[in-house]
Amino acid sequence: MNILLFDSGMGGLSIYQEVRSALPGHRYDYVFDNAFFPYGEQPEHIVVARCCLLIEHLVTERQINLVVIACNTASTIALPALRDRLSIPVVGVVPAIKPAAALTRNRRIGLLATPATVQRPYTSQLIAQFANDCQVMRLGVTELVVQAERKMAGYDVDVAAIKVALEPLAAHITPPDTLVLGCTHFPLLKEEIHSIMPGIQLVDSGAAIAKRVASLLPHKKDGDTGMEGLAYCTLLDSDAHKKSRILKEYGFLTLHLLELS
Ligand code: DGL
Repeated sequence: MNILLFDSGMGGLSIYQEVRSALPGHRYDYVFDNAFFPYGEQPEHIVVARCCLLIEHLVTERQINLVVIACNTASTIALPALRDRLSIPVVGVVPAIKPAAALTRNRRIGLLATPATVQRPYTSQLIAQFANDCQVMRLGVTELVVQAERKMAGYDVDVAAIKVALEPLAAHITPPDTLVLGCTHFPLLKEEIHSIMPGIQLVDSGAAIAKRVASLLPHKKDGDTGMEGLAYCTLLDSDAHKKSRILKEYGFLTLHLLELS
């Protein structure tokens, strides 16, 4: 099967890694909309329009069978529009509030996401539905998204800047014992987050998404190897060239510019 993963940047690779290692026998393409990065600071209608434009085009062009919106910021608003337009399954990634509520002992959960995701009605519904008896401390941070992108371009990560960004949770008088990584960029910074908040349980959506994708695909025989997929960006600048190195390590041998308007 042909699977397409979508994000504003490199964050979707954290989801891709989980899906690919659980389901190796497929062809994976990856598209990131770096011309409109960061999505967490874009108006909602722009994010919905960009998702529809890029994904609809690639679904036809690359004969895609299943799409993963590997971005919480996009999934919390664009899923209905995408599902209306496409006749294939569209899997979204949303903050892992439910598993966090099952894990927390002190009933305090930190939700680390983009400034957009923390304030979406979708996120409030998840909290009301699954973590009603917990105190959920929401922290919207773009700094970590930027640092994750830097890391994937091969630059040094500014751990001091991450520490400042995490301060409202880390220095809280009664800190959470469980932290939801509600942005797909954040699992790329797990080590750095752990070094600042040691002992906290980090919860992300990767494994659950891999399970969901598996449930939607026909069973593959062992030993089937998938074909190599392609990576697409929407701005081929020097950072994108730097990121093509890491994309190769993830198995995307070439990075193409997708120019649509
Ligand atoms: N990776 C994204 C998410 O899961 C979006 C980051 C951004 O572009 O602001 O929310």
